[in-house]
Amino acid sequence: MEALTAIKTRRSCRAFKPEKIHKSVLYKILDAARWAPSAGNLQSWEFVIVEEETAKRQLASAALGQEFVAGAPTVVVVCADTERSAVKYGSRGKFFYSLADACAATQNLLIAAAAMDVATCWVGAFDVNQVRDVLRIPEGIIPIVIVPLGRPAEEAHPSSRTSLGNIVHFETYGKFETIRTAEGDESLPAKGKAPKPGMFDAFLR
Ligand SMILES: Cc1cc2nc3c(=O)[nH]c(=O)nc-3n(C[C@H](O)[C@H](O)[C@H](O)COP(=O)(O)O)c2cc1C
Repeated sequence: MEALTAIKTRRSCRAFKPEKIHKSVLYKILDAARWAPSAGNLQSWEFVIVEEETAKRQLASAALGQEFVAGAPTVVVVCADTERSAVKYGSRGKFFYSLADACAATQNLLIAAAAMDVATCWVGAFDVNQVRDVLRIPEGIIPIVIVPLGRPAEEAHPSSRTSLGNIVHFETYGKFETIRTAEGDESLPAKGKAPKPGMFDAFLR
């Protein structure tokens, strides 16, 4: 699948079929994750694959009871190695770059999965210490994202995005222009128009 198609058709999935993803597919997805950009090419990410039922249930419970996490055949927990970045970049590496690296890898993972018809969801609402305990994650490594993966057992939910006219600034912040895209004219919408709040928006504020 072409990159732009995968980016635009990927949707968060919260119901999975029990059938396992073939290891070769999973490794292809993880391989794409490690080709993400990273600060100083330090690649401050680690991936924990979880397929054991009890551990998946514990992760779902750590994720504030988001049970669909346990329903996925495979769960990947993307972690940041804060010390790897700190060695070169000090506190900016520890508190910012390592997290950015892990998020960049996660996005690659999600897009690669979508390109291979594997459904995913970025789950960021969880108790870090509970996840640490379940997976025995050592100090200095922070779990950043829980990603359940599997074949989808639900229709993709429609999703919306704020129009470009509302978020693209020209030359200086706050200077907007009408943007015409290849997909149709996009006039400049009124500022302050937020997208419809979704189910998990409360977690993300
Ligand atoms: C930082 C972050 C945290 C998120 N946390 C959760 C979560 O805990 N549970 C969940 O179901 N979705 C979570 N999501 C997924 C968003 O709800 C979803 O991406 C958004 O509503 C847009 O929908 P789409 O992914 O289908 O385009 C999270 C996404 C991000 C980027």
